[in-house]
Amino acid sequence: MDLTGKWVWITGASSGIGKALAIAYAKTGCNLLLSARNKAKLDEVKALCASAGQVQILPLDLSDISSSISLAKPVLKDIGPIHTLINNAGISQRALVKDTDLSVVRSIMEINYFAVVELTKLVLPDMVKAGEGQFIAMSSLVGKFGSPLRSTYAASKHALHGFYDSLRAEHHKDNIQVLLVCPGFIKTDISINAVTGAGAKQNKMDDKQAQGMSPDALAQQVLRAVRQHKEEVVIGGTERFGVLVKRLFPRIFSRIIRNTKVT
Ligand SMILES: NC(=O)c1ccc[n+]([C@@H]2O[C@H](COP(=O)([O-])OP(=O)(O)OC[C@H]3O[C@@H](n4cnc5c(N)ncnc54)[C@H](OP(=O)(O)O)[C@@H]3O)[C@@H](O)[C@H]2O)c1
Repeated sequence: MDLTGKWVWITGASSGIGKALAIAYAKTGCNLLLSARNKAKLDEVKALCASAGQVQILPLDLSDISSSISLAKPVLKDIGPIHTLINNAGISQRALVKDTDLSVVRSIMEINYFAVVELTKLVLPDMVKAGEGQFIAMSSLVGKFGSPLRSTYAASKHALHGFYDSLRAEHHKDNIQVLLVCPGFIKTDISINAVTGAGAKQNKMDDKQAQGMSPDALAQQVLRAVRQHKEEVVIGGTERFGVLVKRLFPRIFSRIIRNTKVT
């Protein structure tokens, strides 16, 4: 995998998994374009990516996708084709179906799904022209099965699989690769930033998150999956066996998931 001089665009690069991916990708010698809302944090991450070729930050609020596209277009015109787009930005949910406002459902889908589609469509034509490219989508274990308190989050991650499995089939002939990453519990601020049914920040570190895998370890596994040309990778602790149980014994899985502590 030689990414020297090629552009890797990472969304959600200001913290957690995106930050760890930026630091790990920098060591490949690629150029980095780093996006998120928090400019000050993006600058801090940029400073940690000294081994990259070039590093640019592009602050974006993906809940306003049309403004984000307008901001991104001139930057992309200036730097040239993106080789790898890592659609990592996302927000989670901590609320039952019955308690989640429809406006919250839509805002989670906006960031976790529609923004991903829009950014993908933005860079795809130049990837096709260049004859190479890769999309990496940060799905989740709940992109493989549903879980209490995460109905919309799970739906948004399931949607990524349908979208990107289709894109992979359409663009195999163009040498475009797709990797769906399905992490279990990773120790980041995701549960603190997760939204309640009314759309407020949960502001609480869940026990499962606090005990999770480090984002740096996850980033190393993502790079390994890229080198091995994997299409999908499940990363985490014992919780990842849920995927297998769901596939082989779906009724048993249903019993387990309704009785498991998921926060
Ligand atoms: N941690 C886990 O256990 C876990 C498990 C499975 C999947 N994931 C997925 O991994 C990805 C990264 O999450 P994380 O765990 O690293 O959580 P995190 O620390 O909360 O990071 C989320 C990132 O998304 C960005 N973001 C959120 N809303 C945004 C918006 N409206 N516009 C632009 N950027 C936005 C945040 O940056 P700003 O606040 O600066 O905008 C931040 O960089 C997410 O897609 C998440 O669903 C995480």
